[in-house]
Amino acid sequence: MSTTPRPPVAELTGEVIHRPTTGPEWWRTAVIYQVYPRSFGDADGDGIGDLPGVTERLDHLARLGVDAVWLSPFYRSPQKDAGYDVADYRDVDPLFGTLEDADRLIARARELGLRVIVDLVPNHTSDQHAWFRQALADGPNSAARSRYMFREGSGERGEEPPNNWQSVFGGPAWTRVSEREDAPGSAWERDGQWYLHLFDASQPDLNWESEEVHEEFRDVLRFWLDRGVDGFRVDVAHGLVKAPGLPDWSGHVRMVEGTEVEEGLAEAGDDVAVPDASDDVATGRSPMFDQDGVHEIYREWRAVLDEYDGDRILVAEAWVEPLERLAKYVRSDEMHQAFNFDFLVTRWDAAALRDSITGSYAANDAVGAPTTWVLSNHDVVRHASRLGLDETGKGPNGIGAEDPQPDAELGLRRARAATLLMLALPGSAYVYQGEELGLPEHTTLDDSLRQDPAWWRTGHAEKGRDGCRVPLPWRSDAPAFGFSPTGRAWLPQPDSWAELTPDVQEQQEGSTLRMYRAALELRRELGLGGGQLELLPAGEDVVAVRNTAGAAVVVLANLGAEPVPVPEGHEVILSSGPLTDGAVPTDTTAWLRPHS
Ligand code: GLC
Repeated sequence: MSTTPRPPVAELTGEVIHRPTTGPEWWRTAVIYQVYPRSFGDADGDGIGDLPGVTERLDHLARLGVDAVWLSPFYRSPQKDAGYDVADYRDVDPLFGTLEDADRLIARARELGLRVIVDLVPNHTSDQHAWFRQALADGPNSAARSRYMFREGSGERGEEPPNNWQSVFGGPAWTRVSEREDAPGSAWERDGQWYLHLFDASQPDLNWESEEVHEEFRDVLRFWLDRGVDGFRVDVAHGLVKAPGLPDWSGHVRMVEGTEVEEGLAEAGDDVAVPDASDDVATGRSPMFDQDGVHEIYREWRAVLDEYDGDRILVAEAWVEPLERLAKYVRSDEMHQAFNFDFLVTRWDAAALRDSITGSYAANDAVGAPTTWVLSNHDVVRHASRLGLDETGKGPNGIGAEDPQPDAELGLRRARAATLLMLALPGSAYVYQGEELGLPEHTTLDDSLRQDPAWWRTGHAEKGRDGCRVPLPWRSDAPAFGFSPTGRAWLPQPDSWAELTPDVQEQQEGSTLRMYRAALELRRELGLGGGQLELLPAGEDVVAVRNTAGAAVVVLANLGAEPVPVPEGHEVILSSGPLTDGAVPTDTTAWLRPHS
């Protein structure tokens, strides 16, 4: 076998690309596990996960070795967007349990030493929220309408939407009141107003110029802080403020990836006015996202959190580019962390990964914030499948049976390598439920079962996100693989998952579950989350870094065809796959330490 020459040990120092951020706070180095409540564990047997089902299974997370749990929304909601359409921010949806169940979950997590972060959805409410019901009923120019983005239409009789904005989920971002199915007749027929919804028509955008909206959300923060939560993941954090005058814009913003101006997106014949001199066009920014005004809101919220004891945190979900603009959300008087989607969407390419890692540290270190790392969540194709596609990167919005299928073996191999690279990097890392089992995306889900609004709103052009939201498997020999006591599951689990349940993987040397546990244990023991990072000189297809924490750990991620020999004087302490003749093979990451 041909191997590249052994780099001399002397070369195992490199350019420092990150110095530890100041402060001992837990969130600077935390590994945070995302629970998607409807698919984690079902205690009452209705086939939909619930809070008691989470509480029962928190031991799994404590054993895994994570520091905190982030729960996707469990609030009262008609579930048009799986709970990201909130009808009451201060109550638990009966589907998931009760407020007492939330209290029990928080208390159990605390016993196990796990912190709890909840989701906050401030860009929009559900159309079933009391405020929106009132806004519809009270009519144009009412105080109730001023909490949302109601506008008159364009065109001679207001029959066209106020502007040309597209919803992230496809289709126009405006709905006319009189066109709603629940429009009750004559009063509403005369009501020609439209309302803005950057997502589904059931998710009206709030008006953040209203002081009442500000007050309400400060109060919601306090409601959950008083119940003992450690922080909030802020949904669509870059969306709350829109550009003055809501100017036309013909681009399309894509979930996670962010702004993308697509030539020809507007239908032929559409009379789309594209402003040519505004700042947004100059910067490539859309008028609906990442407006400077959002930062005032986070300063206001930071002040609320700072009134509380302990380190309570705000985490931004913001699809913002470049990394320098994202870093503005984590300046010292704003949020604590922001998801690093730049890393998530990076192609499986060593040079691209090196750039993303270096750029992420440069941007975050400049504002003294920890860099975060994430590979999967409830909005993207799971990384065990994404990395097995011909084209890596963000991947499609869902995969269906007739689409090109990922190479499962290749995907898992790369996913494990990507994970070990991620978990060795200083900062904070996010793990999405099931990735510790190496779960693939469900890529052959029957179309009749799809529930994601993106599937409907794109006229089925996008499969949507259901494939990464399938209920977790827990036991190989139980109905619904132990997800629910009755064997019901709101989406079917692939048969192949019988091999992936924790009870099976516990017994298997080298299983993905055991790899995650070992990595998290070493990360904690060696303090990798708080280390300094050097980029080491290495072959073009190798990401080589040295984390100076502990006894200094060298990480080699080999994306090339040739095996990379373990440098002299070093031993392997963990690897994402077996080594071949003392070398790190293709699509494998190894953690190395100098011989003691
Ligand atoms: C966020 C959520 C996503 C949801 C959207 C609208 O991006 O992660 O699941 O559909 O916001 O609330």
